[in-house]
Amino acid sequence: MKPVKVGILGLGTVGGGTVNVLKRNAQEISRRTGREIIITRASARDLTRKRICDTQGITLSTDSNEVINDPEIEIILELIGGTGLAKELVLKAIANGKHIVTANKALIALHGNEIFSAAKKANVMVCYEAAVAGGIPIIKAIREGLSGNQINWLAGIINGTGNFILTEMRDKGRDFDDVLAEAQALGYAEADPTFDVEGIDAGHKLMILASIAFGIPLQFENVFTEGITKITREDVEYAGELGYRIKHLGIARKTAKGIELRVHPTLIPERRLIANVDGVMNAILVQADAVGPTLYYGAGAGAEATASAVVADVVDVVRALSLNSESRVPALGFQESEIIDSTILTHEDIETAYYLRLTVEDKPGALADITNILAKQNISIEAIIQKKPLHGETNLPVIMLTQRTIEKEMNTAISAIEQLSSVTGQVTRIRLETLG
Ligand code: HSE
Repeated sequence: MKPVKVGILGLGTVGGGTVNVLKRNAQEISRRTGREIIITRASARDLTRKRICDTQGITLSTDSNEVINDPEIEIILELIGGTGLAKELVLKAIANGKHIVTANKALIALHGNEIFSAAKKANVMVCYEAAVAGGIPIIKAIREGLSGNQINWLAGIINGTGNFILTEMRDKGRDFDDVLAEAQALGYAEADPTFDVEGIDAGHKLMILASIAFGIPLQFENVFTEGITKITREDVEYAGELGYRIKHLGIARKTAKGIELRVHPTLIPERRLIANVDGVMNAILVQADAVGPTLYYGAGAGAEATASAVVADVVDVVRALSLNSESRVPALGFQESEIIDSTILTHEDIETAYYLRLTVEDKPGALADITNILAKQNISIEAIIQKKPLHGETNLPVIMLTQRTIEKEMNTAISAIEQLSSVTGQVTRIRLETLG
């Protein structure tokens, strides 16, 4: 059979890794697909830049249109990132009848509905395994492996940079900025690293996971995101004393009132496997009705780990080239007519437990005032630790764990606690999930 010709947009970390993997494993891959896959063209912004891959045999250009307009090319790999040029090129390539493989989570989370609908009209596939959790085949697992289940919730460490920062801070006492610089040098961090540390990148990935888990449209604007920049060394330490680890989790949960979509630092029991996922590694825990909990672990970023997912998508496209569109796996795993616009809860309506840290004056009745406020909002306390005041200080740190409550109640309680004359400064609140 004729080889399948592929064009690549972007030869950075992921593009370079993809060239290397496709070339190195060419023989093994064609044993799986029954067809040879060759990269004939690639585009890059700067052709003089030093690359991690050998581009011999590939026609290079700074003009991506030369790649997407080549009539011989059947599959376009969009590895540029961002949502401006990438979106324009993907839509043009779809209009040209090309199948798309992308690693671009922002593109799918923000414009996936439009892109999938254009692809359906043009009878082409859009694959995005590499967009979530790098090399972990989580899209395939949820969309195909768990297709017999109702998914109740999922919780994931889906940003390698953030997990790397939290791990290094905890284990080595390193500085936030210093670890972030290392993640950037290693090619893990986003072009704009605030996407990593403020939970935006994880929010994009969570939105994609929630869409394929629950069959809902992509709607990134409804994802609640909170970053890790305010996590202090004390919080990490106190959480440890209480038997918890702090992880930056993306959580999607189906409840009777609607769906929760949220990314925030979270205390989780240290005995959970996912609590021990460290460094740049990612993991996603999926709770489904028939199978129960399943956990997916692996490298969430990096050139070849991400390329592994890109190449797997290329293999899927090649295998499905001869199928009509009805026989292909739908883009979001549900038939298009069955994508249901369910209620998404605002963050005020989410239900979770809490870790609270506050600085309290060391005087009789100070704790009673705080517990009375919590009781008034129907918030039950699970544990309290009162630390010794530092030498010569009259204020002391108090750490509380509460049972599950609605966030609205906790917001009211925190505002009232912060008004107390015996409480200094703001209350630190970190959400807590047992993931049981
Ligand atoms: N910046 C992302 C991360 C890259 O750190 O996980 C992979 O999506």
